[in-house]
Amino acid sequence: MTETLIKIQNVSMTFETRKGRVEAVSDFSLDIERGEFVCIVGAAGCGKSTLLNMLAGFVQPTGGSISLDGDIIKSVEPRCGIIFQNYALMPWMTVLDNVSFGPRLKYISKKERHAAARLWIEKVGLKGFEDAYPGELSGGMQQRVALSRALANEPDVLLCDEPFAALDAMTRQLMQEELVRIQRDTGKTVLFITHSIDEALLLSDRVVVMSARPGRVKAVYKNDLPHPRKMEVQISERFLELKREVWDLVQEEVMRSIRERA
Ligand SMILES: Nc1ncnc2c1ncn2[C@@H]1O[C@H](COP(=O)(O)OP(=O)(O)OP(=O)(O)O)[C@@H](O)[C@H]1O
Ligand SMILES: [Mg+2]
Repeated sequence: MTETLIKIQNVSMTFETRKGRVEAVSDFSLDIERGEFVCIVGAAGCGKSTLLNMLAGFVQPTGGSISLDGDIIKSVEPRCGIIFQNYALMPWMTVLDNVSFGPRLKYISKKERHAAARLWIEKVGLKGFEDAYPGELSGGMQQRVALSRALANEPDVLLCDEPFAALDAMTRQLMQEELVRIQRDTGKTVLFITHSIDEALLLSDRVVVMSARPGRVKAVYKNDLPHPRKMEVQISERFLELKREVWDLVQEEVMRSIRERA
């Protein structure tokens, strides 16, 4: 049986800036099931990060509401773990200390938090790098640290804002496969933002296409591609068919935003 974990209802976000009001998100509604992997794609500047920041509780919507497991999100939400494009690790801390930082804030004993952190570090394939500093690691490895750090907090929801966008194609593919594996093992609910339609189709159970700014839901696709989504899936008819449909919609919105700005 499915169970709605996140309810985004008629959410809007308008920023007041020196140049006037910017309507970033408008009347956005979406329900996300527990354990679901949802990808959001949309043109640059359409309000994707703003939406994610509202889910994390970093900013409050100016209209509508977002609830997690029935509770309206009103402040920074500890049940959400977040991964950014730029890793956002603490450079003066070792991998082990970075990953056990969240549990430390919860006053979990050193022994316990280090043991849990070591498990997550191993799960993301970084065993042996516990004492390394972020500056000594490649981009892909740093993003693995960021992923294990988010998971060490045992969040119900993983929010990802284009986490693999800065990685080279090969590392990116490996990280995508690993994230899917971890999500399927742990049953976490994931909301993942990306510019890449291929990435959205490789990862998700559903793809949400956002309109140009102000961002709202333009279309939702159930992604029925079979797992594991290796190379064969990426050249299958169904993959190409879905890709074309999503691409057309995103293009339509890009063109609309260009016309509106002209
Ligand atoms: N704190 C803020 N103050 C004022 N305007 C903002 C703020 N945050 C975002 N915006 C504006 O809201 C709109 C949406 O921004 P947002 O970062 O959510 O888009 P995005 O879809 O994540 O873009 P990208 O694809 O480039 O990451 C943009 O026009 C942006 O300038
Ligand atoms: Mg963004």
